Amino acid sequence: MYLITGCAGFIGYHMSHYLIKKKIKVIGIDSLNKYYSKELKLKRLNILKKNKFFKFYEVNLCNKNKVKKIFKSLTKIKIIHLAAQPGVIYSYKNPKSYYSNNVEATRNLVHLCKNIDIDQFLLISSSSVYGDQKKYPILENTKLKPINYYAKTKIECEKIIKNNYKNLPISTKILRPFTVYGPYGRPDMLILKFLSYMKKNKKINIYNYGKYLRDFTYIDDVIKIMFLLSKKKNLKMETYNICASRPIEINTILKLFKKNLNKSFHIKYLPKRKGEMLVTYGSNKKLLKSIKNIKFTKIEIGLKKTINWYKNFKNKKSLFLHK
Ligand SMILES: NC(=O)c1ccc[n+]([C@@H]2O[C@H](COP(=O)([O-])OP(=O)(O)OC[C@H]3O[C@@H](n4cnc5c(N)ncnc54)[C@H](O)[C@@H]3O)[C@@H](O)[C@H]2O)c1
Repeated sequence: MYLITGCAGFIGYHMSHYLIKKKIKVIGIDSLNKYYSKELKLKRLNILKKNKFFKFYEVNLCNKNKVKKIFKSLTKIKIIHLAAQPGVIYSYKNPKSYYSNNVEATRNLVHLCKNIDIDQFLLISSSSVYGDQKKYPILENTKLKPINYYAKTKIECEKIIKNNYKNLPISTKILRPFTVYGPYGRPDMLILKFLSYMKKNKKINIYNYGKYLRDFTYIDDVIKIMFLLSKKKNLKMETYNICASRPIEINTILKLFKKNLNKSFHIKYLPKRKGEMLVTYGSNKKLLKSIKNIKFTKIEIGLKKTINWYKNFKNKKSLFLHK
């Protein structure tokens, strides 16, 4: 049995969906916060709720008493902790949300976990913890240089896990995904934002003149990797980058959009924004040594799949971000 926190979110939804399709029981927790459209989260949840292997609790991890009640019946559970306040720019607007949903929520979860029998704990951290580096691709043991508050709270979460599980016989892993994209994705991230703005004929701002490099990693690959890692028992705590290790310039993504969509779009090129990393480019050597037979989806294919999903998705309104 798995406990997926943040199950109504982008990655949490896909993770839960993958597991229940395999007839594995999932307990899903999500506060359904309003960082982006609740409608989209409900849409994802409705798909999950159709399957009898899925059970949902609308609860905030900061509410210890409510979580405690859910935990009463759990035993031999694999936890994938995805619930968080993501986003770089929003961390300057609402830092409290990051402290509460990342640091406090993780602290509560770990504290409550002390009373249950855990088989595996995966903390989903982020590539943001690395900040801008001199040497690429980034290895897991590189010195962390966070450049925004989101990244700092993610490092705090990693520390909470390290301090609490280091000497316990619990298989624990810290995973650092790099720019995940795909169907049912996050409306605040470039690819879905781009599709929504284009549909509305709205001008989209492209920062650093499109020269940011991002290690785009397709959602299906990320989910498969998380599943395989969740089955791997290790008593020494391990940290893994989850990335295709193929950095792509945003301008290249724009060219691919142009090739795939027969539509013109309006772009405003702007300078770099504070807190945004110039390059995300991770090494996946350690990951590929640990789990074999992973082939990463090429960006051309992943983007096509995302565009096709978008074209068929009925509730496009829910993807438009009003921030
Ligand atoms: N999407 C990416 O590219 C990416 C990259 C690196 C790391 N991550 C990490 O992966 C995880 C999932 O990201 P995502 O893109 O799916 O984000 P998301 O915002 O779509 O999902 C997070 C979910 O957690 C829920 N949540 C937030 N605070 C909560 C709380 N206190 N209690 C219960 N539920 C809460 C939200 O309602 C949301 O549905 C996050 O930890 C994020 O930091 C994501």
